[in-house]
Amino acid sequence: MILEALTTVLAALVSSYLIWLVAKRKQKDGEPPIVPFWIPWLGSGLQYQKDPITFLRKQEKKYGPIFTVFMGGSYFTFVTDPFTHPIIAKESKVLNFRICTIPTIKKVFDFTRRGVDVPTMGGLMVKYMQGHWLETLVSKMMGNLQKVLLHGSYNNTEWATTGLLHLVETVMCTAGFKSLFGEYPASSGVDNNKLHHKIVEDFVKFDKAFPLLVQGRPISSLKGVKESRANMWKFFTMDEIHKREMVYEMVEQYAKKLEEDQELEQLKKELYCVNWAAMSNTLLSAFWALYYILKHPEAMEAANVEIQRMLKETSQCVDGKSEINFTRDDMAKMTVLDSIINETLRLDISSSLLRQALQDYNLKVVSADRSYKIRKGDKLMTLFQLTHYDPEIYEQPDQFKFDRFLNSDGSPKTDFYKKGKVVKFFLQPFGSGVSKCPGRYWAVTELKQLVILLLLYFDFKLINPEQEIKMDQIRVAFGSLPPNIDPQVQFKRRVIV
Ligand code: HEM
Repeated sequence: MILEALTTVLAALVSSYLIWLVAKRKQKDGEPPIVPFWIPWLGSGLQYQKDPITFLRKQEKKYGPIFTVFMGGSYFTFVTDPFTHPIIAKESKVLNFRICTIPTIKKVFDFTRRGVDVPTMGGLMVKYMQGHWLETLVSKMMGNLQKVLLHGSYNNTEWATTGLLHLVETVMCTAGFKSLFGEYPASSGVDNNKLHHKIVEDFVKFDKAFPLLVQGRPISSLKGVKESRANMWKFFTMDEIHKREMVYEMVEQYAKKLEEDQELEQLKKELYCVNWAAMSNTLLSAFWALYYILKHPEAMEAANVEIQRMLKETSQCVDGKSEINFTRDDMAKMTVLDSIINETLRLDISSSLLRQALQDYNLKVVSADRSYKIRKGDKLMTLFQLTHYDPEIYEQPDQFKFDRFLNSDGSPKTDFYKKGKVVKFFLQPFGSGVSKCPGRYWAVTELKQLVILLLLYFDFKLINPEQEIKMDQIRVAFGSLPPNIDPQVQFKRRVIV
């Protein structure tokens, strides 16, 4: 009886597998080759996840600069040719970005995007993340960073020990949250310090779970994550925004808009998502920038020289009484810091260009000198890590070289080549085209500000400089890669005489 039942189940499984094999997608004339796979749903997912770069390089060698990979129940057509990336980025009408993000946003942040053509915050982000508005945010952030660093628990002239990532998360998350979402006035009775401590804790818990949520793990199966998200939602309600002071104009304007549209439930979830986008990559990149500076004394020396030069040029001094303030223009002139930040982003960011074809499309692949047919509904994918770690574009791509983005006269280096041809998209940590990060200008100044203030006011050293720290590939295609361990550092506030 049992044997009979088992045989029936086995026969059903074998026949469904055979049907699946027959029905599986076949390469049609003019289409990119399909990487063979034999496991239903998973496809090549496990090999990709284990080491995406090695996996993609292997396929590129075998199939050329464009090939289709099946994983997690979907087909992704990878384009590895950097000369074709600008073509994909430009074709925003047929190759849509936002449609690809709808399921992930729903799964992770629990709201539905307001249409495939509506940018984040209805376009307000683009307006408020540049020009004179951005200048006010930059100045606020500089002030808030100094408050956190110089007037809180870090204001200690004795050596203290902590994890570098923990330090960066605490400082950047607190200052960033205050700059965007303001603070409760003293009269409210809310203890802002305690609150920020909780916000950092909740943010970090959710952020660590982010890649698992993207992979489809139910939020309730991850201990405390649903609660952390719910805690954070509370701060983004209309009522709480009204109670706080110094809220950034962009947030106030968006809250007003959603109030008019009677979409207040959406407000807290969208703002939470924006807050996550603003913090997640920035914190991890700040960590890596400081880590590389601590590991490379020549980078620290060059950064210190540039910071001192800018202090002189702006007639400021570190007297421990007045705050240091560099404008965006001042910071734009700091090309050494620019190069350090660019080199950090080249190494730590795994950004992508993900697009879905809204209709059948012929993609011209430059290095193959021919076009490929892309079917309506197909997903096109580019992993910029392949360019960022390409030894033909960057010599010794695994190494941190602080001056990689500097010419010999100290000006920014922007010409990089492959096979003798200029690579236009040589550095894309912020993505490209319509999905290019709207917060990129702010992000770069935040990173510079943290480096400037820490180098000016603190002495730092890695406790174990020989310890090998690796980048965890768990967030491939989703931004900054976290370190596999949090290296311990010693730090103390410098005594100003
Ligand atoms: C080092 C820091 C940062 C990096 C590396 C980074 C990177 C990126 C990348 C690669 C994307 C595009 C995603 C895609 O194409 O799939 C993106 C989107 C986005 N970023 Fe950033 N980002 C950073 C900081 C920020 C900051 C500070 C903000 C906010 C102030 C921000 C807000 C956003 C938003 C809202 C989007 C979504 C845009 C959309 O869906 O249209 N990011 N970011």
